[in-house]
Amino acid sequence: MCGIISYYGKRDSVPFLINGLRRLEYRGYDSAGIALMKDGSIEAVKKAGKVDELEKKLKESPIKGSIGIAHTRWATHGEPSDINAHPHKDKTGKIFLIHNGIIENYSTIKEVLTRKGFQFKSQTDTEALVNLISDIYYADGLNFEQAVEAALNQVVGTYGIVAFCSDEPNKLVAARHGSPLVLGVGKDEYFIASDASPIVEHTRNVIYLDEGEIITINEKGHSIRSMKDDVIVNKETTEIEFSIEEIEKGEFPHFMLKEIYEQVFTIKDTMRGRINPIDGTAHLGGIEHQMSRIQNAHRIYITACGTSWHAGLIGKYLIEEYAGIPVHVEYASEFRYRKPIVDSNTVVIGISQSGETADTLAAIRKAKDFGALTVGICNVVGSSVARETDCGIYTHAGPEIGVASTKAFTSQVTVLFLLSLCFGRNKNLSSQTGKKYATALFNIGEHVKTILDGSDSILEVAKSTVKADNFLYLGRGLNFPVALEGALKLKEISYIHAEGYPAAEMKHGPIALIDEKMPVVCLAPHDKTFQKVLSNIQEVKARKGVIITVTDKRTPELEKISDYIIDVPSTHPKVFPILSSVSLQLLAYHLAVLRDCDIDQPRNLAKSVTVE
Ligand code: AGP
Ligand code: GLU
Repeated sequence: MCGIISYYGKRDSVPFLINGLRRLEYRGYDSAGIALMKDGSIEAVKKAGKVDELEKKLKESPIKGSIGIAHTRWATHGEPSDINAHPHKDKTGKIFLIHNGIIENYSTIKEVLTRKGFQFKSQTDTEALVNLISDIYYADGLNFEQAVEAALNQVVGTYGIVAFCSDEPNKLVAARHGSPLVLGVGKDEYFIASDASPIVEHTRNVIYLDEGEIITINEKGHSIRSMKDDVIVNKETTEIEFSIEEIEKGEFPHFMLKEIYEQVFTIKDTMRGRINPIDGTAHLGGIEHQMSRIQNAHRIYITACGTSWHAGLIGKYLIEEYAGIPVHVEYASEFRYRKPIVDSNTVVIGISQSGETADTLAAIRKAKDFGALTVGICNVVGSSVARETDCGIYTHAGPEIGVASTKAFTSQVTVLFLLSLCFGRNKNLSSQTGKKYATALFNIGEHVKTILDGSDSILEVAKSTVKADNFLYLGRGLNFPVALEGALKLKEISYIHAEGYPAAEMKHGPIALIDEKMPVVCLAPHDKTFQKVLSNIQEVKARKGVIITVTDKRTPELEKISDYIIDVPSTHPKVFPILSSVSLQLLAYHLAVLRDCDIDQPRNLAKSVTVE
């Protein structure tokens, strides 16, 4: 969680840092702060609330400086408040630190320091770290970067940090363990941030920090050391692969809406160069060299969190059908702390938009320790999941800024379709069936466009149901995960309570909730489950539930029984889940807008969950 941004150079850093905080605000937005070094002393301004609040406060009491650090917080320890906002300073007021992550042994550190006379003003774990650095720096005769490293050696937990000290005025120190950091290398200036989005308009040359690395920037330039291996590392710069337009809202009122609309081409981008509708095959370069090991695996685990976990569930249905290998889908937070049956005959697929989710990364590391082959499906190029897995497939959906995942989800599902097509064609899926499947995938962008063109009719459904306090989403087979995802989208951005269920499971409990105030979204494609779903809809009707049917073909029966119908273009039954997901994203979006919610930054959430 949280956004880190820092500047080292000659210009007034405030506009860059504020703009950078805005770009990173999706990562955390409960409070923000900035500290600047000028003429050998450091001043800070901090404010609870969004970056706008900080900017207002800075206008009232401006500060200046050309070396600066700034932070937008997602609280783990201590409520969002001015005092708990970062940067935190040590007891001398000379060392300032911004931190992303959790210092797990902060209370022990605090106890030891309290005995030495330190006092703490905030409830954060971060304040323990800045004072630990201070204790070491002023007692042990180390230079600042050595003191930071010595303090980090005593830390249990995760961090991405940037720190500076007015006793060594032209120096910035940053380190990572579990939370991402990227160094932008400009002409006579440097930028350090949680991701490349605030950097791209200043330089395209970046270095992604690896685990356990510490950077020092001073007048001579930058140097990177591996704290783990105790050596200086020389790292080449790489080029940022996205453009500024991709991280701006453009004409859309919200990033989420922009990203929903982008699915017309992002799904195609995911498939570009990977699918051949002529012979009904798919080709995935990133895993090709491991394909025989993957296909001969005794079992596959898919591990992920949130929306990515829902994509994984769709993957299970597809892979088991086409590869004939048992697939277990597990929340990464569970997988990492139990004893799963994993060995060298196991393949563990980690799915993550950000590639930085702490639980997913830990699950992947555990799988590696057990000797499994690890495969990453992620969106952010160069992210930790991408770097730490043995092989992988990028989703190529472009930067996703809205906290509620939309285009990343449909691209993850697309990758799983491609993977299952590969499996199927290498096994016994006929070229004719493969062709049908591939053609349907290939044409998906046009169908997404049709759904988007019908957005106003989904808005009408939203208007009629906006007062509901609860929603139920029902689906069977591949559409059960779609129901889960539809419900999650609604919960996240509209704060309406929603649950997703396998349609037939409703009668085992949730049916008790149904009355005339309960909208029930029923996914009813004309596949082999259609008649069964229809019976489930009847059960809802009999209890006076409000029926919203999502279907690829209206029938007189559906029209009679449904209160509202959301139409999805008719396509291959396996592709319906992608299309129906887009409809449900629009439904959640319209409901949240009607309820005047903060679409891109829903309360209590953050885009990238880099803490446990
Ligand atoms: C999606 O709408 C959510 N905000 C959240 O569940 C998300 O999918 C989850 O945190 C996993 O993120 P990742 O894909 O970046 O690993
Ligand atoms: N644990 C720190 C805090 O609560 C950092 C949280 C974050 O990553 O934003 O202040």
